[in-house]
Amino acid sequence: MTQRIAFVTGAMGGLGTAICQAFAKDGYKVVAAYHPEFDNKDAWLAEMAEAGFKDFVCVAGDVADLASCAAMVTAAEAAAGPVDILVNNAGITRDKMFAKMEKDQWDAVISTNLTSLFNMTKQVSAKMAAQGWGRIINISSVNGVKGQAGQANYAAAKAGVIGFTKSLAQELATKGVTVNAIAPGYVATKMVMAIREDILKSIVDTIPMRRLAKPEEMGALCSYLASDLAGYMTGATLNINGGLYFQ
Ligand SMILES: NC(=O)c1ccc[n+]([C@@H]2O[C@H](COP(=O)([O-])OP(=O)(O)OC[C@H]3O[C@@H](n4cnc5c(N)ncnc54)[C@H](O)[C@@H]3O)[C@@H](O)[C@H]2O)c1
Repeated sequence: MTQRIAFVTGAMGGLGTAICQAFAKDGYKVVAAYHPEFDNKDAWLAEMAEAGFKDFVCVAGDVADLASCAAMVTAAEAAAGPVDILVNNAGITRDKMFAKMEKDQWDAVISTNLTSLFNMTKQVSAKMAAQGWGRIINISSVNGVKGQAGQANYAAAKAGVIGFTKSLAQELATKGVTVNAIAPGYVATKMVMAIREDILKSIVDTIPMRRLAKPEEMGALCSYLASDLAGYMTGATLNINGGLYFQ
């Protein structure tokens, strides 16, 4: 079988890095999509090379912009070949209680975390259907499933991710293309580990397993969803949250 190509957005962030590494370990060709203003490609590539990962293709763009997504996928196809697996992982937060939330905080989160799924998936879904195989993996959040005070924008976007996933899964079910969502709880990324120690402890105390998720646990789940053996799972939202919340 030819090597499958996995395109990961937000590839240079906490989860994205773990997802890229899991795919690389499992033999996929990885296209790491990053935002040139937010991510330091050279530093990331150097860090990856030091960890033994030397074969990533990088493409730059903005997932909130349709034309930029088209250009990223064109670049990926030229460098690696057609995209077999898309992981819609890029995301941001702009937390505020709703009474104080500004329209630009709403718009930024909806466009980066939800409209991005339209922008990116549009570039690959018909081609996956035509080739009769594909995997679309959308990163939602526990807070998209249960809601969270201070995150009306984020929870709305992440709940939207789940609705998108279920709908597209039905549309592509006969085409060999599965569409699933992952709803992580709190993951021990650099960002989460930077939370003040006492606040982090109070968060961990609410998690039945009394620990954060390891980024590699997210990577392993993505890699499973991308595999042939996951071919009967579609439209699912996989809660991976240490027991924090059940649907
Ligand atoms: N870390 C957690 O605990 C956690 C929990 C639940 C869900 N998530 C979700 O997982 C995903 C990854 O989160 P993370 O913790 O790795 O965050 P992160 O901030 O480390 O990484 C996010 C990445 O997305 C990129 N990005 C942001 N806006 C972009 C844009 N407009 N175009 C292209 N790239 C853009 C950033 O440059 C960054 O590399 C997000 O969707 C997030 O909502 C994270």
